[in-house]
Amino acid sequence: MATSSAPGKVYLFGEHAVVYGEPAVPCAIERRATVTVEKRADERLRVRAQDLSLEGFTVEYDGSTAGTPEVDVTEDLVEAAMGYVDEAIAQARDAADAPNAGFDVHVESSIPLGAGLGSSAAVVVATIDAATRALGVELDREEIADRAYQVEHTVQDGQASRADTFCSTMGGAVLVEGDNCERIAAPDLPFVVGYDGGAGDTGALVSGVRSLRETYPFAADTVESIGDLVEQGIDALEAEDTTELGRLMNFNHGLLAALGVSSRSLDAMVWAARDAGAAGAKLTGAGGGGCIVALDETDATETALKYSPACAEAFRAELDTEGVCREQ
Ligand code: PMV
Repeated sequence: MATSSAPGKVYLFGEHAVVYGEPAVPCAIERRATVTVEKRADERLRVRAQDLSLEGFTVEYDGSTAGTPEVDVTEDLVEAAMGYVDEAIAQARDAADAPNAGFDVHVESSIPLGAGLGSSAAVVVATIDAATRALGVELDREEIADRAYQVEHTVQDGQASRADTFCSTMGGAVLVEGDNCERIAAPDLPFVVGYDGGAGDTGALVSGVRSLRETYPFAADTVESIGDLVEQGIDALEAEDTTELGRLMNFNHGLLAALGVSSRSLDAMVWAARDAGAAGAKLTGAGGGGCIVALDETDATETALKYSPACAEAFRAELDTEGVCREQ
């Protein structure tokens, strides 16, 4: 038996512009998916995920995700999550040269599902690490990150970036540029996440930005400005200047809103965080709904978000520097 965990992520800066080769900085957060894998005597794969239970690949879902009771997790999301586990196990079998290995897999996750926090990447990374170790093989982090990316690439029909899986494997703040990902220096970042209980349609939002960019020169300039802002953000990370990081997050949110990817609830949560004294706040991920991230060392932002009608769930999730962890 082997148990591994891996963190989710937020975008400190640069989502959407990253699609056009601009730099972006996703950061791993202290919210984890934990996966326990036990080898079976037969070739079957049986996956249990909290109160989302399934046998073989028939999804049986009844109730909501543990820890996020208000959230309406649809069967589609659960089914998608299981597709990721299935492909992650295929990668582990391939890495260990054990094509017929059967497993019992137990997934626990404190990362809201389908909310732009990298829940699927965390499950994939932890599953690959635990399943290969259950087969007596220890992969290095580069190989785990690469195989996890292959999983997302397959499940998402070629529409995957390396950001989520690299960030979840390595932990910390990551600089993404094109296909290159590297860890960069960062101070302790006091992230607070607000979640509106919904999700945007990533594909539609990305194509919305694309057509805006093709139609209006201002939109192309906005994408470039996000890239410039990210360069300054990297300097602020190096200088450990949280005040400047917050200011740049606020700019980044404004530019994303100009590109049409914010929403009423995201804006409301951003303003609730700023009014509570956060150093800065912005949407994270594709937008349209889902999550915001704020920087605040005090409890004020989390409390304010919990009282905001736009917010279904708020939690502190500081920068995670560990990446994938071997728990057992
Ligand atoms: O919502 P997420 O965490 O999957 O992030 C989407 C990030 C985008 O830049 C909007 C799209 C992408 O593939 O990079």
